[in-house]
Amino acid sequence: MRSVLAIGLDLGTTGARAVLTDGLGQTLAVHESSYGLLTPRPGWAEQAPEDWERAAFEALGTVAAHADDPADICAIGLTGQMHGLVLLDQRLRPLRRAIIWCDLRTMDQRRFLEQRVGAAKFIEHTGNLPLEGFQAPKLEWIREHEPELFDRIAHVLLPKDFIRLRLTNELWTDVTDASGTGYFDPRTREWSKPMIDSLEIDHRWLPRVCESTAIAGRLTQSAGDRLGLPAGIPIAGGAGDQPAGGVAARIVNDGDTVITIGTSGVVFVATNAYAASNDGTVQAGAHAIPKTWQLMGVTQAAGLSLRWLRDTFSPATSYLELVEEAQSVPAGSRGLLWLPYLQGERTPYLDANARAALVGLTAAHNRADVVRAVLEGVAFSLCDALEAIQKTGASTCSFKLAGGGARSSLWCRVIASVLDASVMVEPEGRGPAFGAALLGSVAAGEFDSVLQACEEMKIPADVVDPNTSWVQVMATTLSRYRDLYPALLATNREAAASQIDA
Ligand code: XUL
Repeated sequence: MRSVLAIGLDLGTTGARAVLTDGLGQTLAVHESSYGLLTPRPGWAEQAPEDWERAAFEALGTVAAHADDPADICAIGLTGQMHGLVLLDQRLRPLRRAIIWCDLRTMDQRRFLEQRVGAAKFIEHTGNLPLEGFQAPKLEWIREHEPELFDRIAHVLLPKDFIRLRLTNELWTDVTDASGTGYFDPRTREWSKPMIDSLEIDHRWLPRVCESTAIAGRLTQSAGDRLGLPAGIPIAGGAGDQPAGGVAARIVNDGDTVITIGTSGVVFVATNAYAASNDGTVQAGAHAIPKTWQLMGVTQAAGLSLRWLRDTFSPATSYLELVEEAQSVPAGSRGLLWLPYLQGERTPYLDANARAALVGLTAAHNRADVVRAVLEGVAFSLCDALEAIQKTGASTCSFKLAGGGARSSLWCRVIASVLDASVMVEPEGRGPAFGAALLGSVAAGEFDSVLQACEEMKIPADVVDPNTSWVQVMATTLSRYRDLYPALLATNREAAASQIDA
């Protein structure tokens, strides 16, 4: 039995979560420390790197204290929210708050870059368009709106790599997180010189890039003292939260697919050759396993749809109660449709101005109908994301479900019925932080490969089959759902414009 321990840290949107795992995949300790999300204006989303640092050190130190002997900890693996822009001065101090993945202020900059550089060139060199959340349009926004600060930029980091800097004093990122910047070429797994030149950014700002399973820095004496850990512990390159979650769910072979329902909803597929979509509707990137790539379809408001519904209309009701009520509602939600675009939409529309809608209401509908419609609407948007991935020619198989939404058996059943396929529900706790710890164990040489580590840490998952009597209803409802986005386009454009002017 392996006694070696590893720590994984997930720098999420709401908090930093650390886990302590053993070589058999048991989780021995978990700690989460939260921080705020600042929205100085509608559509903006910022966080203070100093808040991340405080929470990350608290979470890491707390789980480290659960190790009988800290010397048994072989590595720390890092993961976290992707795409965020962290700007540092020459003395490695943050120049401003980080602008994070869900910030939508950069619509004009995205359009400007697509026109100036060319959408096709972005796809050719990076596999992606410069989506609003990515670093490239954010840097353009800073150039335009905060020119004095722009002139003081010495380093540009992704969120989890700011924590690495505080742990190791080194500037690194990994191939998966770099894939979400807008100036990294996933095909070669290196920064893209043509894009860096076209975007007129300074390549000296960018950290070195490594594979997720490589060692990228070691714990310094001062960070070790803060955490109660010995100096020198290796820190793995790690991965963005979706690829790290993919590793935790054993998404390692061509076509393996995991659907994660967190705040956003993500369909994540591993591919054994580099692939990208022609129109950028699907995000392409390097996976956390050498010589492996990934495709991602993202719906912006999955878990967020249910949270918004509850917080806005039934704050005193638990999620469990709400979803329980919806058990009795027939498939198709008695004609109600939910379009979940509360935060614009990525796949397949790439439209930050998309808006949510509840369509088909009558006085006879009740709360339970609305809840079921929300579960179905999110399942439809995940199905759209899956189909966009399939359109690239990628194969998709052995569907797994992960994230908070997978804790609802009704939601799992709805998704299985919309996809008309059985889904395996990942056990609780097997999320990005676990994946990061696994990457740490591989980096430390405890396993020969991610594949081997996944095999040794395998635990049984529940299988949820489609409900045969729902499948046809879901198929007809999906086609009505797909009519809604184009039907509401003009109205929602006006709504978005008046919201901005207000
Ligand atoms: C992936 C994405 C999210 C964020 C936040 O493209 O935007 O997964 O990393 O979780």
